[in-house]
Order: sequence, then C-alpha cells, then structure tokens
Amino acid sequence: MVDYPVHSHDLVIIGGGLTGLRAAIESSKADFDVAVVSKVHPLRSHSVAAQGGINAALANAVGGEDDSWERHAFDTVKGSDYLADQDAVEIMCKEAPRAVIELEHMGTVFSRMKDGRIAQRPFGGAGFPRTCYAADRTGHNLLHTLFEQANSRDITIYPEYYVTSLVKDGGRCVGCTALNIADGTLHGFAAKAVLQATGGYGHLFARSTNALINTGDGAALAYRAGVLLEDMEFVQFHPTTLYGTNILITEGARGEGGYLYNNKHERFMKNYAPKAMELAPRDIVARAIQTEIDERRGFEGEYVHLDLTHLGADKINQRLPGIRLISMDFAGIDPIAEPISVQPGQHYSMGGIAVNTKGETELTGLYAAGECSCVSVHGANRLGGNSLLETVVFGKLVGGEIAQKLPSISKPSTEPLKEACRKESERIDKLLLREEGERVSNIREELRKMMFDHFGVFRDEKTMKEGLEKLHMLQKRFSNAYIDNKDLVFNYTLIYTLELEGMLLIAEALALGAIERRESRGSHFRTDYPKRDDEKFLVHTMAYYRDGKTELEYAPVTLGIFPVKERVY
Ligand code: FUM
Repeated sequence: MVDYPVHSHDLVIIGGGLTGLRAAIESSKADFDVAVVSKVHPLRSHSVAAQGGINAALANAVGGEDDSWERHAFDTVKGSDYLADQDAVEIMCKEAPRAVIELEHMGTVFSRMKDGRIAQRPFGGAGFPRTCYAADRTGHNLLHTLFEQANSRDITIYPEYYVTSLVKDGGRCVGCTALNIADGTLHGFAAKAVLQATGGYGHLFARSTNALINTGDGAALAYRAGVLLEDMEFVQFHPTTLYGTNILITEGARGEGGYLYNNKHERFMKNYAPKAMELAPRDIVARAIQTEIDERRGFEGEYVHLDLTHLGADKINQRLPGIRLISMDFAGIDPIAEPISVQPGQHYSMGGIAVNTKGETELTGLYAAGECSCVSVHGANRLGGNSLLETVVFGKLVGGEIAQKLPSISKPSTEPLKEACRKESERIDKLLLREEGERVSNIREELRKMMFDHFGVFRDEKTMKEGLEKLHMLQKRFSNAYIDNKDLVFNYTLIYTLELEGMLLIAEALALGAIERRESRGSHFRTDYPKRDDEKFLVHTMAYYRDGKTELEYAPVTLGIFPVKERVY
C-alpha cells in the first residue's frame, strides 16, 4: 500500500496571492507553524496583474481633502447596488488608510505627489480621488512586497501543489490533499485550520482579463465539502479590455483623463451617466459600451475607442507605462498616438464562499478570504480599487482571527489525510486510465464560450435557460472526458481536467442564481426584468450542494448605515 506523505502545520493557507500572503504574515507573528500551498509560484498569482490601484481615504489628492472612511463606505455601498453587507464595508473602509500605510512601510513603491505623500487618482464610482497606485503596476508591487515579507518569516511555501480536496474529520476541516504538480505525487496537509485564499472564478468565461489559473478551485472545493456559495451570479465585466486578447486596460486610464468614443466620435457616456461620464461604476460603463457595440456604433461590430492621446507622452509614460507597452505589444497601438480598441470582458467574481466578517465558513476549521470569498463588501458590483484593499484588509484580519484560535485547537490525526489521499488517488487514476473519450480542452473552451454568451453583460430568461441546458450537456460529456497525456510529471492536462470538474460544478450555482434572480442589480442585468426589485431581491443568493444537486436559498443583506436608494450617476 502506498504510504502518502502527510505534512502537519498549525495553519494551511491555500493560495499564495495577496490575501494568502497577508494572512500568512499575520498568523505567523506568534510563531505558529504556517504553510502556504499554491497552485503556482506565489509571484505568478493573479494578484500580480492588478493595475490601477488600491482605495483608501487618505485625503491626499487635490480635490480629495474632505474624504473620509464614511464617504468611501457610502461609495462602496452605492456602487454595490446596495447588496453589500454594510458591517463588512465599514470594517474594510475604516481599515483602508492603515492598510495602505502598512504596505508603504513594508516597502511598496507607491507613486508620489510632489510633496512626497502617496498619490491618489480618481476611479469609477468614487466621489473623491481615492485610489493609491504604483503607476499602473500596483498589484505587481504589492505582491512583491508581501512575498519578500513572507520570505523573511518562517513560513513554509509549497509552490505548484494543486489542492484536490478538503478533508473533514468529525464535522471539522482538518486539512487538504494536494497533487505535487512537478512529480504527480499526492500529499496530505494536516492543519488545525485551513484558510482558502484561492482567487476568483473568472476563467469560467471566455473574454476574461483573468489568468488561466482563476478557475474557481476554492469555491468548488468548499462547495463539495458542503459549504455555501453566495451571490455567484454577480460577475464583473470590466469595461475596457484590449480588443483581441482581453488583457486589462486599467480604469486608471480613464482616471487619468481618458475618453471613450464611439464610431461617430461621440463621448457616448454622456447618454448613460451624464455626471460621472467615463468614471461611472464598471457595470454601467460596461453596459454602455456593449450597447454602443450592439447598436452598431462600435468599430468592426466589436469595440469602441479609449482615447488617451490628449494626455500627452509624459503623463502616459509616467502614470500608464504598462498600458502603453501592452497596447503596443499585443495590438500594435501606441496610445500616445492613437486610441486603444477596447471591449468589455469578464474581470472579477463578486460571489464566492459564504463567510462572516471573521472569514469563518459554515464548516468549522475552514476559513476563506479575498476574491474566493463573499463577505460581502462588493455586493452586486465592485468598485475598482476595492479588490486589492479587500485582499490586504481581510487577509490580515482573518489571519489574526485564526492565530487567536490556534492555541485552543488540538492537532488533528493524520489518518483521515492518508485515507483522503487514497480516495483522491483512485479518482485521479480513474481519469488517467480512461483510454478513449472526448478531449478535455474542447469541453473547457465550450463551457467558457457558453458562459460568456449566455450569462454575459446582458441576460434574459430564455438565453440563460438555453445556457443551463448546454451546461448539463457539458457535464454529461465530462463523464466521458479523456486525458491523452498519462505522464505524472507536470501533467497540466490532468490539472485542467481537475479544474474543469470544479468549473462545471460551480457554473451551475452561478447559472441557477442568475435565472432565479428576476431583477437587475449591479452587474446582473436582465433585459426581461430591467428594474431593481428590493422587495423580492434585496437578499443574498445562497447555493447549497446537496445529494449531487444545487439548491438555492436566500439570506438577508446587512444594512444599517446607508439607506437603500436609487443609484444615479
Ligand atoms: O482597472 C483596473 O486597474 C482594475 C482595478 C481593479 O479591478 O480593482
């Protein structure tokens, strides 16, 4: 019988992006034995791709002197179309200034004002210039800062380990199993507590700004373990992704003064958000662009123009150097001289693993934070700059919460981990031993296209129900999926297959949530129910996986600071 290795730690954090690293730094302070298990090297986590910045009411910028956490919270709640839980928003916005200064002290190279204070730029849906930034490479800077900090502590990192299951013992999460991608061996990780910081499920959609790795693994793991998923139907489409590749073109480009034009050379945002214009929240700008394209005012029936030429070479080179390089390298466009071709693309997952403000899930011992979770600070639509903020605020908070509890939790037995490894090994062997069937890549690409076409910027009952039927067909086809590469060393076809199994599962929670939510709110816009319906749907959607089936329930939204109003920009 194979003797599977089991690694024991106090806390196992799944995911090595900003949330995971921030939690690791916080929880390791009291000399706890903390491990980070990550599907990629931490510096390849998707946090690295964040561009435009991180919000905090520092009140540094000219015009932003009156900013405050309350104003930040108000913008966040209004931006969320009132679906965000206001207690969670309060925590995040109050903590924001401290979090940003802490990052500065840890070594982040923020862009500066002339007097040396951290610079802040305007972002969509914000009443004040509130977004702190490191040119247009903010995520890259923050991730390197936290990785350096994590490395200077006694934190064990397991890079390129793909987590295949959460392990329970007596109703408690006691660890996970993971495949070492480099050699295909299965390992058990026993822990007093497990924190999921695994990022979003953006790769469920074609036309996404997300990395290939954002396949919603964390949500799928938790869902299979009986944990609730919340508000999965709320998916953010970023207004400006580069036509052709859908690489992110930061909102910072509009924050710095960029204009959107249709093929009549009209700044069409005047028809959708006359006051905020290009800096309306993302859901509104994305719908505006899609409408222009659908009504034949786009270019080649596919995109509109984002014009930065009037900003001048100096500003573009100083504030948006990454965007310039991306546009030149991937589209042959130099934004100093000509407009960038942009179209909406999937960008962020507002829904995720249901947690309370301490990061606790329904399952004792299992925590979640960051994009994989739904706490919910973003509700139906996230404001740009609030995602980086969520990672560091809740990474720290949840890491600290767990650290407080660790002394009172006893070390779990390694037996359930060994047993789980045996089961996982059987599951994987079954996939690898199948000698014929359908290639996984076909099913995966069809799923992504279907999700974009049937659950995209605009939704309606008929299209979504057709999408759900297609999803059921894809699920059936998956049972016949075939992996031609039988090798165990760096077998990415196997990893894609395991990811796809989870994607097909959580796609159903998203689809059912979207079909049942018969209203329009934030990113979820239904052409057959174009109005928000607070009477019926000012509630969170909760998806359960029971007896192999998805069921929905609804839970109240935490209100209490800002009264629910119509959202006008
Ligand atoms: O547009 C951007 O730079 C993205 C920022 C964000 O998603 O918060």
